[in-house]
Amino acid sequence: MPLSNLAFRDIETVVHPYTNLATLRDTGSLVLERGQGIYVYDSDGKAYIEGMAGLWCTALGYGNEELVEAAAGQMRKLSFAHLFSAKSHDPAIELAETLKELAPVPISKVFFCSSGSEANDTQVKLIWYMNNALGRPKKKKIISRIKGYHGVTVASASLTGLPNNHIDFDLPIAGILHTGCPHHYRFAQAGETEEEFATRLAAELEALIETEGPDTVAAFIAEPVMGAGGVIVPPRTYFEKIMAVCTRHDVYMIADEVICGFGRLGHWFGSQALGFRPDGISVAKALSSAYVPIAGTMINETMYQALVTESQKIGTFGHGFTYSGHPVAAAVALKTLEIYRRDRVIEACAAKAPQFQARLSALADHPLVGEARGLGLVGGIELVADKPTKQSFDPKKGVAAYCVRAAEQNGLIVRFISGDVISICPPLIISAAEIDDMFDRLGRALDQTLDWAKREQLLAA
Ligand SMILES: Cc1ncc(COP(=O)(O)O)c(C=O)c1O
Repeated sequence: MPLSNLAFRDIETVVHPYTNLATLRDTGSLVLERGQGIYVYDSDGKAYIEGMAGLWCTALGYGNEELVEAAAGQMRKLSFAHLFSAKSHDPAIELAETLKELAPVPISKVFFCSSGSEANDTQVKLIWYMNNALGRPKKKKIISRIKGYHGVTVASASLTGLPNNHIDFDLPIAGILHTGCPHHYRFAQAGETEEEFATRLAAELEALIETEGPDTVAAFIAEPVMGAGGVIVPPRTYFEKIMAVCTRHDVYMIADEVICGFGRLGHWFGSQALGFRPDGISVAKALSSAYVPIAGTMINETMYQALVTESQKIGTFGHGFTYSGHPVAAAVALKTLEIYRRDRVIEACAAKAPQFQARLSALADHPLVGEARGLGLVGGIELVADKPTKQSFDPKKGVAAYCVRAAEQNGLIVRFISGDVISICPPLIISAAEIDDMFDRLGRALDQTLDWAKREQLLAA
């Protein structure tokens, strides 16, 4: 198909994140123009179910007038104010209060920023700063997990455990270590139960800490359910065992709630769904339903006291972004949280999850699907060339990419992520009928992909 004028201009002007920039020159991009509810519309007027809530973030869908009004009202009142040098403003104060109230563990303070990457980068810097304040300057290493996703700034990309975020970016930086990925389907040993697998992963983490020296390991960071690494739900008992290891070695535990926070798993926070109590929390995305960028690094009292001590010693707490706690973003986030509470969005999510998960699980019967997995209103389906042996497709064949394009032909936006996994993560406001429609469309896309894969002889014989 010839490229539209917009698609052509796009190629000549925009560097696209997470895109093969060479093939983009031939294919062009899908140019979206507007959105309403769970639907977005392209520049030709074609409607799509936004089955990925943008990038796991547009929880309240599109065209929410209350959020638009919250932004416009704040822009009229005070369009910008910062939090540097002992300045503050109402929306930031109220938002921090609300987050403390909602937090699943005692949170002392919230540091605001604009993205998940910044929130996790801040976590790293604060850990280092805290341990200097506590007089243990050697305790600085941070452990994350293979396939974990924590963002793309230098420290966050180092935490991320995916090759594409490291190769030729000269990452990870020193002092960031990766431990095993809690994906039973791919990494359990033959005959290993979920509990046994969890026990082994916790033992591996402990062995890593002991080999490095517990006096050098400062923190551990994990998403409750891994998102971009493949929508990976950890095995039963995983977090309780991991937490015990962290506690034993005085390792500060950070929950990266950038995807799981605010209802995605049917609870306010993913750590509640998975049953663990972190020391610190990163939030972003659904915090404002992605109407404006805002994120937060939520810290405990020990961390806060250390920041006070250090800044007293140095003369200032030398960290902060121009847009830390931007009043417009804070006002929109406050309105978003108000809507979640008032409309019982989180409870509604929990109520819709069984239907979503039943439709997801049913896809496991499809000849292309090796595993269908998820929790709450997020799911992933892993496409394989051979179900019994779990043999993957040759990545160069682009099977998941084909499926994503087929879904788009069927009016559904989904994404392919690491390892031929198709991810599904609709706006939380999706209705029961829309969930069925979404999975019907995905089923048709899978069938079309299967026909193509057979024609191309990509399936194992
Ligand atoms: C769990 C998690 N952490 C951090 C990030 C990074 O957020 P951002 O892209 O806003 O920097 C993401 C983004 O998808 C994420 O899923």
